[in-house]
Amino acid sequence: MKRIAQTVLMILLLALASPAVHAQNATVAVDNTTIFYVVTGFVFIIAVLVLIVSVVVLQLLKTFVRQQAEQLAAERGEVYVEEEGLWKKFWDKINDFRPVEEERELVLDHNYDGIRELDNHLPPWWKWLFYVTIIFAVVYLAAYHVFDTLPLQEEEYMAQMEAAEEAASARMASLPESNIDESNVVMVEDAGLLSKGKQVYNNNCAQCHKDTGAGGIGPNLTDDYWLHGGSIQDIFRTIKVGVPEKGMISWEPLLSPDQMQNVASYIITLKGTNPPNAKEPQGELYVPEIIPEETVEADSTQAVAKL
Ligand code: HEC
Repeated sequence: MKRIAQTVLMILLLALASPAVHAQNATVAVDNTTIFYVVTGFVFIIAVLVLIVSVVVLQLLKTFVRQQAEQLAAERGEVYVEEEGLWKKFWDKINDFRPVEEERELVLDHNYDGIRELDNHLPPWWKWLFYVTIIFAVVYLAAYHVFDTLPLQEEEYMAQMEAAEEAASARMASLPESNIDESNVVMVEDAGLLSKGKQVYNNNCAQCHKDTGAGGIGPNLTDDYWLHGGSIQDIFRTIKVGVPEKGMISWEPLLSPDQMQNVASYIITLKGTNPPNAKEPQGELYVPEIIPEETVEADSTQAVAKL
């Protein structure tokens, strides 16, 4: 008993310790959901503890009461007979069989190679279960097929598809309208956007262009030579429309304009990094236009775009 109690305590302590360990690893600030889970977890653990303690106390109480009753009976010179508990009564009732002593009355006059058959009745729990299924079938039939109060599978499916479509269009409507295309795309400099671009690149492009941009199935993206032009607009367009006949798909259906702008900008940052095992240059040398100082000040977005 003591050992069991110790084990239970250990498990609970470990369970308590684990969220704390996770919390230390997390770099993000603790948000409301985390607090909710931690609090719920604590409440749950405490509830379990209370339950265990109550069961133990009840058992102790029961033993104590029985001892008292036995003592009392002994003093009176009687033999203490424990009253049947509710559970025991219920158990006997659902498993009610005609006892072995009545075998003589139950036996059928079949005799197969010495194996005889008894005609005992079915266990009550089995019969109750059977009655429940009959009631269930009637309710089910009425609810689904007679009164149409509950939706059938197909209706349910249609309703869910409709809800999903609504949710999708609501999401589309809530997205900021992005009108970035190859005519107005600019090189983004923001570190956050570039790291988003890097993520898009690693997830979608690295398998053909290598994570360093050194090139593999696709060309080297770190040199000054380009098959389809090396300006931000050119790169954006190549990503958007792809070169399907050469194995580079159009990414327009898969990436948002912002994502394409970010990944195109990220590719430009790879220029001149000279990664190991780089693929030999392909295409033509691309030299960025040199923009005079005044123009840069006059129209900085334009200047950035030309980079
Ligand atoms: C299945 C392989 C594959 C994947 C994935 C792939 N590319 Fe390509 N990519 C290629 C090939 C092949 C070419 C060369 C096309 C040609 O020969 O004209 C290419 C060309 C390019 C070019 C033009 C290079 C130049 O020299 O003009 C750019 C830019 C580019 N890819 C960017 C990307 C980006 C960004 C992604 C991810 C969103 C990506 N690629 C994913 C295979 C791939």
